[in-house]
Amino acid sequence: MMAEPQIVDALQEKEVPARSKTFYLETFGCQMNVHDSEKVIGTLVQQGYRQVETEEDADLILYNTCSIRDKAEQKVFHRLNDFKKLTDQGKRFGVLGCVAQQEGEHIFERAPHVSLVAGSASYRKLPEMLVRLELGDRRITGLDDRQTEETFETEFTVRSNPHRGYITIIEGCDKFCAYCVVPFTRGKERSRTSSSVLAEARRMADAGYTEIQLLGQNVNSYRDPEGKKSFAELLAAVGEVPGIRRVRFTTSHPRDFTRDIVEAMDAVPTLCDHVHLPVQSGSSHVLKLMQREYTREWYLERISWIKAAKRQISMTTDIIVGFPGETPEDFEQTITLLHEVQYDGVFAFKYSPRPNTPALSMPDSIPDEVKSQRLQILLDRQREIQRVNYSKHIGHVLEVMVEGYNQTRGQVIGRTSQNKTLNFTSSQPILPAAGSYVQVKVTKSFPNSLLGEAVA
Ligand code: 5AD
Ligand code: SF4
Repeated sequence: MMAEPQIVDALQEKEVPARSKTFYLETFGCQMNVHDSEKVIGTLVQQGYRQVETEEDADLILYNTCSIRDKAEQKVFHRLNDFKKLTDQGKRFGVLGCVAQQEGEHIFERAPHVSLVAGSASYRKLPEMLVRLELGDRRITGLDDRQTEETFETEFTVRSNPHRGYITIIEGCDKFCAYCVVPFTRGKERSRTSSSVLAEARRMADAGYTEIQLLGQNVNSYRDPEGKKSFAELLAAVGEVPGIRRVRFTTSHPRDFTRDIVEAMDAVPTLCDHVHLPVQSGSSHVLKLMQREYTREWYLERISWIKAAKRQISMTTDIIVGFPGETPEDFEQTITLLHEVQYDGVFAFKYSPRPNTPALSMPDSIPDEVKSQRLQILLDRQREIQRVNYSKHIGHVLEVMVEGYNQTRGQVIGRTSQNKTLNFTSSQPILPAAGSYVQVKVTKSFPNSLLGEAVA
């Protein structure tokens, strides 16, 4: 609480050197990070900084980092090393996001050219931190102790897409799955008020956005601090904002996946036909070791609700293979689950031990080549499931939102409500613009995309 007046005093006493304030920001990791970066960019621009395209052109180089798996983390340190030489030119480096929160001040030791280390729960204080940076402070930290109740809201968000945009409704995580760093990197679970979320949705609709994606590490664990709306009610209310045609939400946690979410999807046509519901494993034994607090049967019951919806809802999931103690039989249960659910997409990962997590004390017992084999088997099986699922769209007309144009293929790139890529050709002399909605008849399918023709 004392930090702010001190900064103001310092500012009055010392002239902030006049420097051209340019910044370069690179983002690693999930959609939460992508959207945090949009808010960070807005904050920097508000502070008089200008964004540039390359590290070479920037005074301040920022990496918004991810630490979900070891590779993601290594990438950041490589990147920091690659550009170390630029420090000689007076450039400053800052590490934001999950690696910043996880490694804290160790980053100054591992990469001494870094001046700023800030986790996501400290972004509200970025303006102060920038002033200190400009005053020449070389060791600035903004780290969270899982105490903060605050969310990072700003009216200055610079969204990269003018048609569809993210709104974070809940930050942090209180679930503590045995393998996961997120509770340590993103602080405790805290939701925004439904009034502020709806106000942002209305502002976006007024600015021409037609698609909104509600974000949260566990989006459906949302609890309105004002007590006005449940998650399902908020979802429905965003879907009813005039001008909004599509609403998505990610990522849902099975523990908090309640039936009223499906009821809201039934009642509000703008809610997209897609649920991403990470299962992590098809074996109740492994789920217990993972501390997921549900069983295979419990998860499948939620899936049965989604399958019973009035519209066909596409389902996708995340899976970890090779968690400590996963037997061949456990893995086989994950494979049978894929067949039972019939997912339209699976993000599968080899288990990677992470700092601070409970699973770190379990021996990482599955050899890497076994993890790789299991991953490959899983991806091959899933590909076949998707080949069949995607082929079922042939002959049907689907609405897509246009995302762009593929020059080499001469195809317009579209996305369906189910979140599938549907590329298409059009006989019209003028091609549909990005952000427009077009009816497309599906003519061909692949395991990961569809092909079609615009319906006149
Ligand atoms: N190792 C491998 N995959 C992980 N994930 C999270 N933590 C780990 C880990 N330690 C995966 C989960 C999660 C997704 C975002 O990343 O499947 O849902
Ligand atoms: Fe990576 Fe998780 Fe941080 Fe997102 S929240 S950037 S997935 S560690």
